[in-house]
Amino acid sequence: MKLELTSALLLPLLAAAVPSTRPAPEHPAAFTVMAARSASPIHFLPMNAAGQSFWLGGSPATYCPLPSDCPPGDKTVLAGSGAALSVVVPGGQQIYVSPEGALKFTQAHSAYIPPGSSYGPFAYVPGAPNQPFGHYNYTGWGASGFMACPTEDENWQVFAALKNATVPSGNVADCLGFSAIAVPSNETGNTWQYT
Ligand SMILES: *[C@@H]1O[C@H](CO)[C@@H](O)[C@H](O)[C@H]1NC(C)=O
Ligand SMILES: *[C@@H]1O[C@H](CO)[C@@H](O)[C@H](O)[C@H]1NC(C)=O
Ligand SMILES: *[C@@H]1O[C@H](CO)[C@@H](O)[C@H](O)[C@H]1NC(C)=O
Repeated sequence: MKLELTSALLLPLLAAAVPSTRPAPEHPAAFTVMAARSASPIHFLPMNAAGQSFWLGGSPATYCPLPSDCPPGDKTVLAGSGAALSVVVPGGQQIYVSPEGALKFTQAHSAYIPPGSSYGPFAYVPGAPNQPFGHYNYTGWGASGFMACPTEDENWQVFAALKNATVPSGNVADCLGFSAIAVPSNETGNTWQYT
């Protein structure tokens, strides 16, 4: 599920996502996230929800029980300040940081969050005036944002940027800190539920 995208390809896409003549709203109803870390394999990869975890690249894992008229479920959209996913399923799906430091989301129809998890704070930080995007931030446990950690099957899992995180390779030094670009989206409820 690894995607190699060059900045040459993605910069125009990012610019097109929100017309630059229209500054991003200070408090968008929803946003998507893209990693920025130049000269790295994660530069400009989209953040996706799958398996109750978050990943850079690939695609979201979604489910819709309706026989027809399901929302597209083709991208990962966060709601409000980024403490929840933007979904249709009643009860919603919360975002938290597990005791291991991983960015996680709750299963549909369940409020279960493991004891010792961090509930935030998460924030949508507006960009400079006239900038079409802001940043997604997590500052719980003294963290300053996020990092991506390589897994054995060559994916990048998203963690809070914490020195004491328990990461797939066993060594936090293998992880890459990244800036989480938050692109305001009008696609609230783009997905019934993430799985
Ligand atoms: C990791 O470090 C943070 C900040 O020092 C602390 O609040 C948290 O409890 C630590 N987590 C673990 C699992 O040790
Ligand atoms: C995230 O929050 C930390 C701690 O408040 C701050 O140092 C950092 O600049 C913030 N990042 C962004 C992109 O706003
Ligand atoms: C949503 O955003 C897209 C891209 O900016 C725009 O083309 C579309 O008209 C918007 N839809 C609504 C309902 O605002």
